[in-house]
Amino acid sequence: MFIPTKSHRQYSPALDNDQLTELSELSESDRLSAIDGGIYQRAWIEIDEGAIAHNIRELKKLLAPGTELMAVVKADGYGHGAVRVSQIVLEAGASWLAVATVPEGIELRQAGIQAPILILGAINQAEQIEAIAYWQLQPTICQREQALIFAKTLSRNNASLSVHLKIDTGMSRLGIPWQEAEEFIKLVQSLPQLNIASIYSHFATADSPDPTIMWEQNQRFLTALKNAGLEPENDQQNIRFHIANSAATLAESALHYDLVRPGLAVYGLYPAPHLQDKVNLQPVMQVKARVTQVKNIKAGTGVSYGHRFVAPQNMLLAVVGIGYADGIPRLLSNQLQVIIRGQIVQQIGSITMDQLMLDVTNIPDLQVGEIVTLLGKDGDLIISADDWANTVGTISWEILCGFKHRLPRVGVSTNIY
Ligand SMILES: Cc1ncc(COP(=O)(O)O)c(C=O)c1O
Repeated sequence: MFIPTKSHRQYSPALDNDQLTELSELSESDRLSAIDGGIYQRAWIEIDEGAIAHNIRELKKLLAPGTELMAVVKADGYGHGAVRVSQIVLEAGASWLAVATVPEGIELRQAGIQAPILILGAINQAEQIEAIAYWQLQPTICQREQALIFAKTLSRNNASLSVHLKIDTGMSRLGIPWQEAEEFIKLVQSLPQLNIASIYSHFATADSPDPTIMWEQNQRFLTALKNAGLEPENDQQNIRFHIANSAATLAESALHYDLVRPGLAVYGLYPAPHLQDKVNLQPVMQVKARVTQVKNIKAGTGVSYGHRFVAPQNMLLAVVGIGYADGIPRLLSNQLQVIIRGQIVQQIGSITMDQLMLDVTNIPDLQVGEIVTLLGKDGDLIISADDWANTVGTISWEILCGFKHRLPRVGVSTNIY
């Protein structure tokens, strides 16, 4: 019998068709009792590996032949599992990876990933610089002092490093202000320990239907480069230029330059509704959990902490083994809808740390162990991270990143959308 193994951070490998058939032939109780990994747990995340590869191929269709794709896999691959996502995107045609922190980069190297890895976040400590050099990661540099610390630390070991310079063109986050970029670029060019692999910037409003600020930022980027004697069109300089996140990658091929840095789109979500017709993306993450108890409650019975739901009539209630510590926003309490047996079911009462309750009055024969789809597709119904984000007033990025390491991730390849 096939037994899914718990691999890195509980990422179970994708099941092939034979394995799926084998599993489907087991009785439900055998499946539940046999193994504690992946889909046998109270709740889990399914990662559609085929959808990741599909999304990379779709994005690459937008790119000119020489333009590279850097997949952003920070925050544990936006909650999807950075190591597995990285392996799949690289196989599917991405040639760079981006993470936010040094440990995120080391995790990928320890998993045997050899592609170039850009660290998007700030690095100032000498210890971090040594780790970066040891693990062959590529840092972002965005201020004079930082460049000098890097050069000094590297010169002690007679080492050099590929670095990426970040220019702030209007995000007002990390980056040398664009007006000061010329001097900064020239300084780094004068330091033999630092090889400039790329110069980049980041958009603040690329997902807005009004592109004015995006173009203004782009113009500032070009002006800063020109002042330093550089231009993206000139391939002789051996420096890459990049500025496009998912939204800009979808919106404008003129912003692709030497490489694009999509994050959200890799995971199958669109940064904004007006960009939806650009390519066909498939959501990668599905979140599922099992019914752990079913019981009747009488009219007037309060449900969960604070009794924020009181049964208006006699009801059938189901308890489900997933809660806010797993990544379900507590703000969805009393508003969350889930899918069971291809039909919408309403969640009731406060969502608790590990469990939540449903009104299953319309499914009188519901059994313990049945699968509840919280995010994803069941039958004709789809619940997306955008639905949750709209309900609680946040963005899909935050919903995805909310799924950290408590839930096992199971690789599947379903092509369900
Ligand atoms: C510098 C940088 N580039 C690219 C991305 C990817 O952005 P998105 O997920 O919108 O594609 C991010 C994400 O926040 C980022 O910080």
